[in-house]
Order: sequence, then C-alpha cells, then structure tokens
Amino acid sequence: MKPMLANESLIAAQHVSKSFPLPEGKGEHLVLREVSLTVRSGEVVSLLGRSGSGKSTLLRIMAGLIPPSQGQVFSNGKPLRGANHDVAMVFQSFALLPWLTVQENVELGLDARGVHREERRQRALKAIDLVGLDGFESAYPKELSGGMKQRVGFARAFVLQPQVLFMDEPFSALDVLTAENLRGEIDDLWNAGTFPSQSILIVTHNIEEAVFLADRVIILGSNPGRIRGEVVIDLPRSHDRAHPHFKELVDYIYTAMTNPELKVTGAVSAKLPVSTPPVAPVSPYAQHLPHVRVGGISGLLELIVESTQGEADVYQVADRLRLTVDDLLPLLEAADLLNFAEVTQGDIKLTASGRDFATTTILRSKDLFRQQILEHVPMLVSMVQTLREKRNGSMRADFFLDLLDEHFPHEEAERQFATAVDWGRYAELFEYDASEDRIYLPESVTAVSSEEPS
Ligand SMILES: Nc1ncnc2c1ncn2[C@@H]1O[C@H](COP(=O)(O)OP(=O)(O)O)[C@@H](O)[C@H]1O
Ligand SMILES: [Mg+2]
Repeated sequence: MKPMLANESLIAAQHVSKSFPLPEGKGEHLVLREVSLTVRSGEVVSLLGRSGSGKSTLLRIMAGLIPPSQGQVFSNGKPLRGANHDVAMVFQSFALLPWLTVQENVELGLDARGVHREERRQRALKAIDLVGLDGFESAYPKELSGGMKQRVGFARAFVLQPQVLFMDEPFSALDVLTAENLRGEIDDLWNAGTFPSQSILIVTHNIEEAVFLADRVIILGSNPGRIRGEVVIDLPRSHDRAHPHFKELVDYIYTAMTNPELKVTGAVSAKLPVSTPPVAPVSPYAQHLPHVRVGGISGLLELIVESTQGEADVYQVADRLRLTVDDLLPLLEAADLLNFAEVTQGDIKLTASGRDFATTTILRSKDLFRQQILEHVPMLVSMVQTLREKRNGSMRADFFLDLLDEHFPHEEAERQFATAVDWGRYAELFEYDASEDRIYLPESVTAVSSEEPS
C-alpha cells in the first residue's frame, strides 16, 4: 500500500449519469443524473438514499463493474477502465459460494489476482482472524449464521487490502442485534486504526447507521438519482448515539429525506426551513404516489394520536415501530401528501383532518379520505373525471397504465396504478374489476341495478 496522504482523492465519480434501456424498446430509464462524488483518504463516506435511488448502480460504476452512460470515474487520479482493483465490495446478500469453505471463499479474490498459494493462505487466515472467525476456516457457508456469513463477506474484502472498501447495505439482511453487533465491530476496527483500507464508502437507507458510521453523509435524491447535498458528521469518533448533536444530525437528515424538494445545505444548527408545498406536476400522471395502503396510513396516525397526543419525533416513531427509513418514509410521505400531517424538523404533527381520520368511524374516515384525495391527488381526480366523461362510466385499466407509462418505468407504473386503485377504492371514488381489468364509477353500478324494469 502506498503511503497515505491526508485528504487525497482516492476515487472520484465526475458527472456520472446512467440510463438503462426500458423493455420493448420503450426508450430509456435515467437512473443517475450528473453525480459527482469524491472519496478521500482517511474518511468514511455514507451514501444515503431510498430504495431505487441508484445507490447500488453508483457503487457498481465506481467499482468499474459497469460503465457510466456519461461522465467518468477516476481512481488515484487516473481514468478508470474496467474493474477497479483499488476497491473491494461487501454485498448485502453475502454472495458466498456454497461449495467452498470459509477459507476458500476468502482466498477466491486472491486466486483471481494471481497471488501464490502460501501467501494466499497466510493472508486469508489473517483476514479470518480479524473478523473473529478463527476456528471456522474449514466450515461451509450453510453451517454459518447470517452474521457469520457476513463476517466471511468482510474477510473476503479485507484480504484484498483494498484502498477503499465499498459496502452495499452490508447489515440490511441481518437481524437487528446481529447487525448492531457487527456494525459496532467495524466501527471499532476503524477507530482503532487497524482497518485494512484507507477509506470506506458505505451505502445505506438507514439514517442512524449513516450518522453512526460516517464522517460525511451524502444524501441521494430519487427519480433520477442525484446528489442533494451532504452533511458533515462533526462528532468525535466513535459517534455517541446519546449525544444531543447526534440526534440533531439525525433529525436534520430525516427532514431532508421526508421533504424531497428541500435544499440540503448541511447547516444542521440552522435547521431546514419548513416544508414548502411541492411544485404542481406537469401531468397529473407524473405525480408519484408513495406505495402504502390506507390501513398503513391510519395505523401510523392512530399510533401517534394514542401515544403522543398528535405530535411526535419521527426518529422515535421509527424506533418504536422498529421500522427502517425505507418502511417509514412512504407512510410519512402519504400522510404529508394527504395533509393528514405535517412533517418538519424531524417531527410529525397531525393536522385537524389527520386527528379526525385517526379517531373517527370507518364511514366518516372514508369521507375524509375522499376529501383529501380530491384536494391533493390530481391523478385520482383526473381518473374520476375521465370516467365521468364516459357514458358507461367505465374505462379499461390499460388506458391509465399507458398514461403512467409515459412518466415511470413500466414496473413502477404498475405499482403506481395499484396504489391509485387501492386509494380510489377505499375512498369509494371508483371500483376495479380485476377479471375484466376495468375501472368504473360506483354510480354506474348503482345506476344499472336501480333501474326499474319498465
Ligand atoms: N441492469 C439494470 N437494468 C435495468 N434497470 C436497472 C438495472 N440495474 C438497476 N436498474 C434500475 O435502476 C434503479 C436503481 O437501482 P439501484 O441502483 O439498485 O437502486 P438502490 O440500490 O438505491 O436501491 C431501479 O429502478 C432499478 O430497477
Ligand atoms: Mg441497492
């Protein structure tokens, strides 16, 4: 390893964009837009973004596993071509070969790099020791717990002595306690100065994890993935979760994540401005609905009313529900979109209609839900208008799917449609007949069935 200069750029993505072709030649899906990101020596950088924001894609581009559509990656100042041998990756899925022992799995990458047998063995044993798997060298992956499998994942990366270690949600597949334990050990190794790489780039969708591990948290926006800003974690290492500033940082990032249109300046003590109303989308079918069921929204609101009198710290709500950001965010987004709650400064506060919705009868809650939809969800309003313009009050589902397809990749368009149908049905705005794949106004059924035979 060459001597380490502080703040030297080890790996840098410059103006990286990435598109994937959509199926059936329907154009392209822009996944990353103009992403520039530098990892310097001696730092832990965390890339935080919601599922689908392009985190793994960016990591794969920086590791040289796939090329960018536009822009460039530099490794130690040189343009990257092909696989980046200065990095090693730890995957969420462990990615172990089941027919190889722990030691063989760990040696695999060295084998590929032409390292001789004895050196391979020595280095593998050292790496296995470092991750606490001493004694399990000849075990097979199926004999190991999830936590131990991921330890092998780390050993396999460590053994390559990469300049920069990439981790793609390395703790997400583990149960809470195992994840916490392993995360703590990785942090200890880093803080003790015995970590086998100069820098770490960790991808996560977990805010607390990002603040705990990183010196800098880069916040990625979605659709398309792009950098919104960064937050410097100005706490002494190891980051103490009980430190008031830790909570302040988490709250700041929560607010940023729940308000996609806010500018992220990283000025944490100044706090983020109160949420601004989103700009009206061009087409009603371009509005992105968070994928949650109505029951989930009312469940969240009920919990807040019952346990906190209508106002809560989202950080604590997440904690109490044992939810990750990924799970909680869509619910907060939906509550905010429907004006059942205001999410600001890491707090969630129910509005009058939100309280009403959480505490009223099912019949009245349907009315309330319908009112909020008609006011805040142009997509559903447009669907209802279209149905009303039809004499039979009905329309093939494909018609709406095609409109959504213009704004979303097909899979996402289908999810948007499913959410719209779920909400629209609950609000009794329309009905959906799955066997005929048609949407129709509830009145059209009533009208037909109430027709008196003449
Ligand atoms: N090889 C691929 N072909 C087509 N689409 C892809 C491919 N890889 C990723 N995507 C799309 O890119 C988007 C971002 O994916 P990903 O980078 O895995 O996000 P994240 O890791 O943030 O969850 C998703 O919509 C995904 O479907
Ligand atoms: Mg990913």
